[in-house]
Amino acid sequence: MRIILLGAPGAGKGTQAQFIMEHFGIPQISTGDMLRAAVKAGTPLGLEAKKVMDAGQLVSDDLIIGLVKERIAQDDCAKGFLLDGFPRTIPQADAMVANGIAIDHVIEIDVPDEEIVKRMSGRRVHPGSGRTYHVVFNPPKVEGKDDVTGEELVIRPDDEEATVRKRLDIYHEQTKPLVDYYGKMAAEGNTKYSKFDGTQSVSDVTAAVVEALK
Ligand code: AP5
Ligand code: ZN
Repeated sequence: MRIILLGAPGAGKGTQAQFIMEHFGIPQISTGDMLRAAVKAGTPLGLEAKKVMDAGQLVSDDLIIGLVKERIAQDDCAKGFLLDGFPRTIPQADAMVANGIAIDHVIEIDVPDEEIVKRMSGRRVHPGSGRTYHVVFNPPKVEGKDDVTGEELVIRPDDEEATVRKRLDIYHEQTKPLVDYYGKMAAEGNTKYSKFDGTQSVSDVTAAVVEALK
């Protein structure tokens, strides 16, 4: 099964990806996590991406498309994958079509901007795995520590309010058009499209998504 998770920054894509991945046994491909790993490793790609990410801007389509194509070609993606944070521009979506990569189901998670700004201040992440928590809505078992490894959780550098607002502007400008793009593709019978209210609890969103994907 090939799935796209579509939604604004902070809508809960990474959070839901963790559950979907475990439930259906397919790998999560998070372009944000891949870029953060490159930043941490200090690779040339990471050095280039860091400035752009910290400013809440998008890295270039060519760079991201190359990264995703390479990842999808790996063996563990043969039985399917879950795209989280890609595509987020029309050229990125067109590149999928041009490369013959069909998508079975597009899952949109919808959350209003103001709710997102509130959420982001409480987000904590485990840098090694990308596992995501929230101090109130999805707390780790031990405060400040990852549930699996016990390692420290951190605040993402792009979660400052001004940067979150910038990311939301870019989402509305460049990524939101994909709602119509995939809506049209679904109307033509070339994928399925389901939209979910992302303001429900984490477990309610998961239950609804899992049901739709069955
Ligand atoms: P990326 O890492 O993809 O960031 P994003 O899309 O902005 O999304 P987030 O990871 O911020 O949010 P999320 O939807 O995963 O929410 P989460 O589950 O964490 O990209 C980062 C940067 O990389 C981009 O800005 C760009 O520069 C670059 N980049 C990446 N992909 C790119 C591409 N394709 N092209 C170009 N550039 C690219 O949840 C958020 C918080 O809310 C958490 O604390 C969580 O616990 C909490 N939460 C989740 N669900 C709920 C709920 N139902 N109720 C209450 N709280 C909840
Ligand atoms: Zn994420």
